[in-house]
Amino acid sequence: MLKDRYGNPVSTSSQAALAKYDEALDLIRLYRGDPVSALDAALGEDPDFGAAWAARAGLLVQQTDTAYAEEAAKSYRAGVAARLNDRERAHLEAARAWSEGRYNDSAIGLARVAQENPRDLLAVQFAHTSCFYLGMQQELRDWPLQAMRAFKRGDDGYGPLLGMVAFGMEECGDFARAEAMGREAVEIDPRDGWAVHAVAHVNEMRGDLDRGIPWLADNAQHWAPESGFAYHNWWHLALLYLDMGDFSQVLKLYDEKIRPDPDSSIVLQSIDASALLWRLKLEGVDVGNRFATLAAAWERSAEDAFYAFNDLHAIMAFVGAGRVVDAERTLKAMRHAAADGGDNAYMTRKVGLPAAEAFVAFEAGRYVECVEKLAAARGLAQRFGGSHAQRDVLTLTVLHAAIKGGLRATAEAFAAERLAHKPQSPWAGRLARQVRALREKAAA
Ligand SMILES: [Fe+2]
Repeated sequence: MLKDRYGNPVSTSSQAALAKYDEALDLIRLYRGDPVSALDAALGEDPDFGAAWAARAGLLVQQTDTAYAEEAAKSYRAGVAARLNDRERAHLEAARAWSEGRYNDSAIGLARVAQENPRDLLAVQFAHTSCFYLGMQQELRDWPLQAMRAFKRGDDGYGPLLGMVAFGMEECGDFARAEAMGREAVEIDPRDGWAVHAVAHVNEMRGDLDRGIPWLADNAQHWAPESGFAYHNWWHLALLYLDMGDFSQVLKLYDEKIRPDPDSSIVLQSIDASALLWRLKLEGVDVGNRFATLAAAWERSAEDAFYAFNDLHAIMAFVGAGRVVDAERTLKAMRHAAADGGDNAYMTRKVGLPAAEAFVAFEAGRYVECVEKLAAARGLAQRFGGSHAQRDVLTLTVLHAAIKGGLRATAEAFAAERLAHKPQSPWAGRLARQVRALREKAAA
């Protein structure tokens, strides 16, 4: 019986198919190259290789993009008809659950595979990314941590596993261990963009520009080439320049690295683009026609409403571009989704929809409504996924709404909170000064 690169039995007897499959596993764990092509090459060698179909389906559904839905469904159908062992079948069922909007079932199914087969790094990784999408912070840390029992330093896959634990540690607030583990993983393989990203998050949470900027900028020659994830690490670098107040550098990164193809409609890229432009808008920076171009890219997803986190980012682009009708289309689709019974309904009802309505209210100058909705949703916001750094857009928006609306106590509270978390951050300092000016103005 053949085994994959981590030692898991696989349902093929073709060495050539297995070699291509192992290559895909390497690309997937590093977020590099084109793993779907590698899986297709494996399937070219053995069209009944169930693990390859299952990995293909899993990879595609986790793009959270309807553009891949048809290919994901095709992979699932072919997988069901192919040779599968129990582990591979569980992978396939997890992909199906995700495609049907049963996100928690999918995540838990993958975690079970990983617990029973801790050397199945693909299951660990898909479970880990599921946790990211679902805001399951402790499992984001603990599921990869559980698998560490089956790996030792020097093992194939040890570094990427360490990178996952590092990111989980960071999201759970254990910055020191996150940094140590992330750095160790990057030492093992400087191309490991996920581990680079874990340390970037530590620097972001600390507001540490002195370490954060060189960490990303000086090592990009390792993590950026061929990375399918590079735009997101560039986004993190742009956030640090934004913190510094260097807006021209932020726009340069936006144009050259985060959104080099302004017409790209890859949803995961559009999310970072929306998130960055919205922050610039809050800061009063003129972003030219970038919102308009971005909103055009979001147009095809305006009524998707299968994942609230995406919907909110579509709203940012539509509102930023002044496309009120499209923003209303998305809101309407979200209201419809909120009434369903699935996992996204909960996320939409509790976080996505109130946040989206708050962003629309912000633009309309209804600052009290904006503050009330965001302040209520913020405590639950992890439930609609993403990272602390991404969800920070809610806090920034509520703070700016409070400043603009003259809600002094709220503004003071949020500004003080930010400065306490990030005492070194120039951005936190600027916001605190703006809030102080509010008090001085009131006193005058
Ligand atoms: Fe991130």
